[in-house]
Amino acid sequence: MQAESFEFNPLSPEFQANPYDYYQAIRQFMPQLHYAEWNTWFLTRHNDCSAVLKDQRFGHEILKIATREELGWGDVPEDQRAVSAVFQSWMLNRDPPDHTRLRSLVHKAFTPRIVERLRDKAQSLTDAAINQLLDEREADLIELLAMPIPVTIIAELLGVPSNDQDAFRGWSRALAGSFEMTQEPEVYRQASRAADEFNAYFRELIAEKQRHPREDLLSALAAVDAEGDRLSEEETLAMCILLLVAGHETTVNLIGNGTLALLRNPDQFALFAAHPAGLAKTAVEEFIRYDGPVQLTSRFALEDGELNGMNFHKGQEIITIIGAANRDPEKFENPESLDITRTDNPHLGFGAGIHYCLGSPLARLEGQIVFATLAERVPNLQLAVSDPARRKTYVLRGLAELPVRV
Ligand code: HEM
Repeated sequence: MQAESFEFNPLSPEFQANPYDYYQAIRQFMPQLHYAEWNTWFLTRHNDCSAVLKDQRFGHEILKIATREELGWGDVPEDQRAVSAVFQSWMLNRDPPDHTRLRSLVHKAFTPRIVERLRDKAQSLTDAAINQLLDEREADLIELLAMPIPVTIIAELLGVPSNDQDAFRGWSRALAGSFEMTQEPEVYRQASRAADEFNAYFRELIAEKQRHPREDLLSALAAVDAEGDRLSEEETLAMCILLLVAGHETTVNLIGNGTLALLRNPDQFALFAAHPAGLAKTAVEEFIRYDGPVQLTSRFALEDGELNGMNFHKGQEIITIIGAANRDPEKFENPESLDITRTDNPHLGFGAGIHYCLGSPLARLEGQIVFATLAERVPNLQLAVSDPARRKTYVLRGLAELPVRV
C-alpha cells in the first residue's frame, strides 16, 4: 500500500477490520503522524512507542494540570458520568504517586507463586474442553475454550461466585466498548449503565468479604479498604472492575487470535505439535506479537517537549499503536511472518514501563497451557469456515467465533 493511496482514518471499518496493511504504510511513510482532526499523535515505530510508554513526561492525569476548557473538552454528559468516574479511578489511568500506591496493593496477588496455584485449574478446564471437542468433532472454539478459561480463572482469583458470571460478562463487554475509538454516545451510555451495575454488585460483595473473608483477592482488597487510608471505597470498586474486565477481554483474544494464526500457518502448527511443551513459551509471545489482543494504548503529553524528533505539546494525546510496533522491521526479523520459535521477541503487547501488564503472568500461564494442550492432543484441528467473523472492535482485537472441526 502506498502512502498516497489511502487517507488515514482510524475510524474507518476497513482500517479497523484489517489494520496490518495500513500499519506497514503508516510506519514507513508517516511514523509520527499528527492527526489534525483530533490534535493527536499516532506512533507506529517500536522505538517511539516504547520510549513514550517509559517516559514520565507522558501520563494520564492531565486534568490535574489543565482544565477541560483549556483542553477544549466539553462536559461529560450526566448519563456517561459513571463510566468516566470508574476510569479515572483505575490505576491504569493514574500517574505516580497514586499509581504506585494502587499497583503495590494488588501486585502481591500476581506473584508467580500465586499464579502457579491456578495452573491445575487451568489445565483441568482445558482438558475438559478438549475432551468435548474430540467427542463432538466440531465446535466454536471461542465459546468452548477461549472464553470460559480466562473468565473462570479470573473469577477464581478474585473470589467472585461463578454463578454470577453471566451478569458480569455482559457488563464487561459494555464497559470494554468504550475503550474503542468511537464517537457514538450510546456506547458510553451503555458503558455507564454497566459501571453502575458493577459498582452495586461489588459494593455488596466487598461488604460480604469484610464479614466473611476468604483466601481470595477481593477479601484482601476488602481488608485494605476497611483499614481506610490506603484505598478509598471508590478505588477498591474500580480495582475490582479493572481486574475483572482485564481478565475477560484480553486472554480470550490471545487464545482466539493465536489459534487462528496456527490454523493459517500449518507448518508452524506441525512444528508446535511435534514439540508442544518445548515451544509453548515462545509460541505465546509470538501470538501476542503477531496478532495481539491489545492494538494500542495512549497517554497525554504532560508538558511541551521533543521525543525522537516529535515536537509535542502539553495536553496532546499520543496514541502508541503497539500492534504496529510489534511488526516493525527495525526491531523484528521477518515481522510479517509467524515464527513460534522466535526467541528475540521484545514485543510491546503487554505494554512497557510502569503500567506493564499486571496480569501478564496469568495470561502467559493460561496461554501456554491451552496452546500446548491443543497442539499435543488435537494436531489435526482444522478451520470449519474460511474466514471466521471478527468482533466489531479494533483496540481489543479478537474473533466473534472460531468454528473448527477435528
Ligand atoms: C494476553 C492477555 C493480555 C494482554 C495482551 C494485556 C495487555 C495489557 C497492556 C498492553 C497493558 C498496558 C496498558 C497501558 O500501558 O496503557 C496492560 C495493563 C494491565 N493489565 Fe493486561 N493484558 C492481558 C491480560 C491481563 C489479565 C489476565 C489481567 C488481570 C487479571 C490484566 C490486568 C492488567 C492491569 C491491572 C493493567 C494495568 C497495570 C497498571 O496500570 O499498572 N491483564 N495489559
